This record gives sequence, C-alpha cells and structure tokens, in this order.
Amino acid sequence: MKKAHWLVGNWKMHGNLAANKALVDGLRQRLPTLSDAVQMVLCPALPYVAQMEGLVAGTGIMLGAQNASDHLKGAYTGETSPMMLKELGCGFVIIGHSERRSYQGETDGLMGRKALAAIDSGLVPIICVGETAEERDSGRTHEVLGRQLDAAFGYIRTAHDNIIVAYEPRWAIGTGIAATPEIVQAEHSFLRSRVAQRDADFAARLPILYGGSLKASNAKSVFDMPDVDGGLIGSAALNPDEFVAIYKALDIIARKAAKGNA
Ligand code: PGA
Repeated sequence: MKKAHWLVGNWKMHGNLAANKALVDGLRQRLPTLSDAVQMVLCPALPYVAQMEGLVAGTGIMLGAQNASDHLKGAYTGETSPMMLKELGCGFVIIGHSERRSYQGETDGLMGRKALAAIDSGLVPIICVGETAEERDSGRTHEVLGRQLDAAFGYIRTAHDNIIVAYEPRWAIGTGIAATPEIVQAEHSFLRSRVAQRDADFAARLPILYGGSLKASNAKSVFDMPDVDGGLIGSAALNPDEFVAIYKALDIIARKAAKGNA
C-alpha cells in the first residue's frame, strides 16, 4: 500500500437519514475540497451505507463499514458479506474493533478470517488491536498486541494485500483519556517492527493509525509522532468542527512528511 495519511471516522451506532446528511454537509462546508495529502474515510452504521454513497459522491470522501462477515455468502442470518459492502460503494471495513471483541465476543482467529474475506472482496481491512488497562498495568501490552497482530497477519499476503492497522488501547476508547504521544509512538513502533519481521518493505509502507479519545485539542501532538499515519476517530467524528480541525492538524503534518520524502 502506498504510504499515505488517513483520517477515519467511526460513527458507531449513531445517525439517521437527516443527521447523516447534516453531518456530511457540515464537513463539506468546512472543508470544500479535501487535501491530496490526507485520505478521509467515513464508516456509517450499516443501513446507511447506500445513503452515504450518494452523499459523498464526487467529494473524494471514501466509505467504510464497521464490520463484515468472515464469509462471502451463504446461510448466515443477519450477517453482511464484504462483497455486498463492496457493491454498495465501501472501500474499507473496520475489523476487530474492541467493542465487537467485548460485546460480540469476537476472537483473534475470527478477526483474521474477517480480514481475509475483506481482502478477497476488494476491501481494505482496518485491523484494530489494543490492550486493556489491566493488560497494560500487568506489563502484557506487547504480548497482547503481538498476539492480535499475528492472528490477522497469519491470513494476509503482505506482498500484495492492502491493509491498515489501528492501535486502539481499550482504556482510551470513549473514555476521554487518550494515550500520551509517547505511548502511542512506542506501541506503533512495536507494531511496525513486528510486521517487519514478516516483510520489512510492507511494514515501512503500512499505515498505522491511532484511535482512542482523539480530538482537536490532542490530535497534533499524537500526529507529530513519526510512526503515526493518521487517526481512527469515534465521538469527535460526529462533530464537524472537531473532525475538520483534526483533519487539518493531520494535513499540516502529512504535507511536511511528503516534502521530506520528495
Ligand atoms: P473514541 O472512539 O474516539 O470515541 O474514543 C474511537 C474508536 O472507537 O474507534
């Protein structure tokens, strides 16, 4: 995957037809054109994917889903195939979000199979990994992150698959307490070196996003870290002022990075 900067909005189970339109309109008013340095992906609740495809058409904003089945089709009542999401205009799907691990009992193995099904359907999986507060406090952060990452990468062909990884410490999601920039850098660096053991070129290009209570007031200090390639934003993605401010903070850093690489 080409190295790029990414801002992903995870709308979770929020929104309705009118609110989704108001939110996209609000983003477009504040940001009439997207930067070529930062890709924006919005992940609405599943029933609204088709509506959102119309709302973002021609804007450069891309669409993702919050979950997909590990199967492509079949007798799986209530599930959604990644192929269906692709047909509806999604290019991305969040895999292994901690809320799904906590409330739906999703396992590392299921996450790996979902990542593969997404890739086979032409979607880019956004693979979420993250430790609990208890795991961090007992010094097991790297053991947990390594296990989660290996479970997904066991299914991925690094030479030609496009993926994004998101580091989302569970204790930072929805709590208002983001990880410090130093913690974020340390864990992103750990994740990148873990992937580099499989494929160093792939690891160097791999976008690693941070998620967990990121907002306009703390985004810059996190995005400034060298191994951070963007953000996965929950509650602040529902507020157009906040989301656009975060986007602009990332854009400044992404442009600097692009110049440095030129
Ligand atoms: P938050 O959520 O920004 O509300 O902490 C992030 C996420 O769950 O992806």
